[in-house]
Amino acid sequence: MMLYIFVPLCALFTFSQQVTSAEKCVCELTNSEQAFPHDELSAVEDNASECNSEITARKTLELDSLLLGLDRRLPQLLEDVSMLEREDDQDLYGVLSLQVIENELKDIKQLMDKLNSTTMRDQHLTIGATKQLEEAKAEMQELEKYDTMQVVRRQEANMRLKRDLDQCKNGHNHIIQPTQPPRRNCPHGEFVNITGPRVYTAGEYPGSYKYGAWGRDPQPEVGKENWYWLVMMTASNRYSNYVRLYSSLSSIIVGVSVPGNVLIHSSNPTTNTIQGPNVVLFSGALYYNCYNQDAVCRFNLTSKTITTVKLPKGTRFNSKGNFCHLDECYPFTDLDLATDESGVWVIYTTTQDYGNLVLTKVEDDESPTLGQTWNTSVYKQGVTNTFMACGVLYATRYINKEMEEIFYSLDTVTGEEKFNLGIFLKKMSPNIYSLNYSPVDQMLHAYCDSFMVSYKVLFE
Ligand SMILES: *[C@@H]1O[C@H](CO)[C@@H](O)[C@H](O)[C@H]1NC(C)=O
Ligand SMILES: *[C@@H]1O[C@H](CO)[C@@H](O)[C@H](O)[C@H]1NC(C)=O
Ligand SMILES: *[C@@H]1O[C@H](CO)[C@@H](O)[C@H](O)[C@H]1NC(C)=O
Ligand SMILES: *[C@@H]1O[C@H](CO)[C@@H](O)[C@H](O)[C@H]1NC(C)=O
Ligand SMILES: *[C@@H]1O[C@H](CO)[C@@H](O)[C@H](O)[C@H]1NC(C)=O
Repeated sequence: MMLYIFVPLCALFTFSQQVTSAEKCVCELTNSEQAFPHDELSAVEDNASECNSEITARKTLELDSLLLGLDRRLPQLLEDVSMLEREDDQDLYGVLSLQVIENELKDIKQLMDKLNSTTMRDQHLTIGATKQLEEAKAEMQELEKYDTMQVVRRQEANMRLKRDLDQCKNGHNHIIQPTQPPRRNCPHGEFVNITGPRVYTAGEYPGSYKYGAWGRDPQPEVGKENWYWLVMMTASNRYSNYVRLYSSLSSIIVGVSVPGNVLIHSSNPTTNTIQGPNVVLFSGALYYNCYNQDAVCRFNLTSKTITTVKLPKGTRFNSKGNFCHLDECYPFTDLDLATDESGVWVIYTTTQDYGNLVLTKVEDDESPTLGQTWNTSVYKQGVTNTFMACGVLYATRYINKEMEEIFYSLDTVTGEEKFNLGIFLKKMSPNIYSLNYSPVDQMLHAYCDSFMVSYKVLFE
């Protein structure tokens, strides 16, 4: 055993022992190896971390959102131009449409300019980063020579083995998977994962309003199919008195609100003011928690009328039943309104349910009414937000500043609850104050510390 330990040491050092006199014994140690260049290693480390901080996900995303904006905008233009061609009967009608197209072209030009400047910036960054990476790689290969004990090489081999093992395990799991659960009536199949962000923008008021919500109307009025809505908590981070509308995704990214605001009341706050960020627009009406009430308000953007439905007795409101993570609770998030393929839902908590999430369908009648209710066994304070997709309630929790996890689901058809979904959302900002699914384009819209972010929902 002793011998075994000493062999590698002896390979490194040469001992020479000599007796110089009867009393003195000198032991000379000669290191046959070169000294490890710590300074160079730490320089490479510094360079690598500098490179990391320069190339953030944000930068690639900016480009992605702009491209997506263009992607949506161009077919619209094409359609408008062909409509103009059909309409062109040499009179005023054509002139008016021409004006619309001119405006659209101006928007697209704006978008292209932004795209151009972003691309130029990114190009510089890429060239710089590639050079740095090459340098770092060469340096690391140089440093590997010092790995006489073969530590790094063995670690690499171990990693390869572990990867193979994982792959083997996964393949195995795949084979023994039980039969599929009963199919549900969803146009796109079952929710499996999320990718993105696909859109990431500071919008028209960069950094001004920390709390808010945005999205698309799942059941838009004719002619408003491409519109987006935005509600920001403009007073004390908790109240708002208007909905801001945008005619397309690119307008919301560039920050040009053409239809402008639809005002609920000139005062803020007052009766029927929007309280808290988790609002939704459905069928031309905004659903939200109204000021100082345990109730859902519906504001019809066309008729400007408000109808209200009271929630059950014991419903927590006025910031008493909020979404939370370990460090903080998100103020005035008592009521979370949600939309999916089947309409509007409200998620809240009550005293009799001991703070667990409760889900109720909101029926979209002449005035809104409450439909069926589901009790859950998930504690609201351990949840950061919820959304509905295809009749399934999903809840998220905070993992860290970069990551949120969709961990919980309740299927309203089967009543089944799951606590271990393990679907991760890559965040662009630490706090998600509202989250809402848009069945029109299967996007999940999030409003995070004043940024608008959206993810693509993948179905199977
Ligand atoms: C770190 O980066 C600088 C600037 O790109 C370069 O001059 C230097 O050689 C790099 N150092 C190492 C150890 O790669
Ligand atoms: C992009 O920007 C650069 C520098 O700002 C400019 O020289 C170039 O003409 C622009 N290209 C387009 C297509 O607008
Ligand atoms: C979801 O997608 C991410 C990449 O976008 C992937 O890393 C992850 O493994 C996927 N998760 C599941 C459960 O498929
Ligand atoms: C909103 O009001 C308009 C005009 O009165 C009406 O046609 C529409 O059905 C209303 N929408 C909702 C969701 O109640
Ligand atoms: C939910 O829980 C409450 C309080 O415990 C109870 O009164 C109610 O009947 C339950 N509702 C359903 C749908 O199970």
